[in-house]
Amino acid sequence: MTLLVAITGWDVDPWVERFRRLLPDRKVVTLGEPFDRRAVDYAVSWKHPVGALDGLPNLEAVFSLGAGVDHIFADPRLPDVPIARVVDSDLTDRMSEYVVMHCLMLLRQQRRYARQQTAAVWQDDKNQSAAADVRVGIMGMGVLGQDAAAKLKMMGFDVAGWSRTRRSVPGVPCFAGSDELAAFLARTDILVVLLPLTAETRGFIAKPIFDGLAKGGVLGGPSLINAGRGGLQVEDDIVAALDSGVLAHAVLDVFNVEPLPPASPLWTHPGITITPHNAAMSDPDAVGRLVVRQIRRLEAGEPLDYVVERSRGY
Ligand code: NAP
Ligand code: GLV
Repeated sequence: MTLLVAITGWDVDPWVERFRRLLPDRKVVTLGEPFDRRAVDYAVSWKHPVGALDGLPNLEAVFSLGAGVDHIFADPRLPDVPIARVVDSDLTDRMSEYVVMHCLMLLRQQRRYARQQTAAVWQDDKNQSAAADVRVGIMGMGVLGQDAAAKLKMMGFDVAGWSRTRRSVPGVPCFAGSDELAAFLARTDILVVLLPLTAETRGFIAKPIFDGLAKGGVLGGPSLINAGRGGLQVEDDIVAALDSGVLAHAVLDVFNVEPLPPASPLWTHPGITITPHNAAMSDPDAVGRLVVRQIRRLEAGEPLDYVVERSRGY
């Protein structure tokens, strides 16, 4: 019984240590060492190299170490086994913290006060808006979008959601599909993107979306928060929208190329806030426990939770 830890881009050691501790009766191997490919029953993946999961004849399931699975579907040699993703309150809470924090920073103009502090300027904003006057629109009303919506509501924001199929969240108007996109955008001052990256959503966060956002809102212009995936956004369109005043600010956690190259103009644009794809990091303890629960379920003859659909890509 062997678990293969197939990770690139993250430090593999904390994961191997957790899985060895949580599964003392199993062998835990990594891509960097020789191992018996026939013995591997399960694999955990974060951006595994193409073909790394091919040629494992007894593989039963692949577990994404993140909520997203685009990094797994990027492998054209993926074996035909169930793929499960992370759905866990630890990760969900982290994402909602990020979204609520950045909505509050925009509402309370915290960047302006930080700039003022560096110049020792004491200047109040006489027109501080109320959260209730700020319309937040969440694109992607899945596990993360729904939790963020509920917590933003708790802070008093005027929240709506948009997704592929209609969701039902108490007190949150839910829009669905391309027919209702324009109406959703037209009532959005802060656009929060929590979509998965799929064939349908790649490049979706672009000029037509920015042009459709609310005009005349209390924040002086609409803002974007993208904590979904970099491949969703057209970065040149974000810069153009900021430069022309269509967007007031963009908070970006994810990028087309990660790590964001030092030469990228996004780093120094005054209208952009950058975080290094850590809006909701996967905690090895919490996610390790989830994977072990999933393995126990399978071995007890129960169905896996949080299995993704290959045909739709999430
Ligand atoms: P989820 O539960 O699968 O929800 C995805 C939502 O997006 C659903 O509401 C879905 O619609 C909607 N959607 C998918 N394709 C769409 C389309 N073509 N048009 C409109 N709506 C569409 O996923 P989640 O757990 O909330 O996670 C969302 C994403 O967050 C992940 O895929 C990942 O990329 C990203 N993420 C980022 C970080 C970070 O640190 N930056 C951390 C974790 C996750 P339906 O409701 O109709 O299915
Ligand atoms: C992180 O990006 C995740 O998908 O969990």
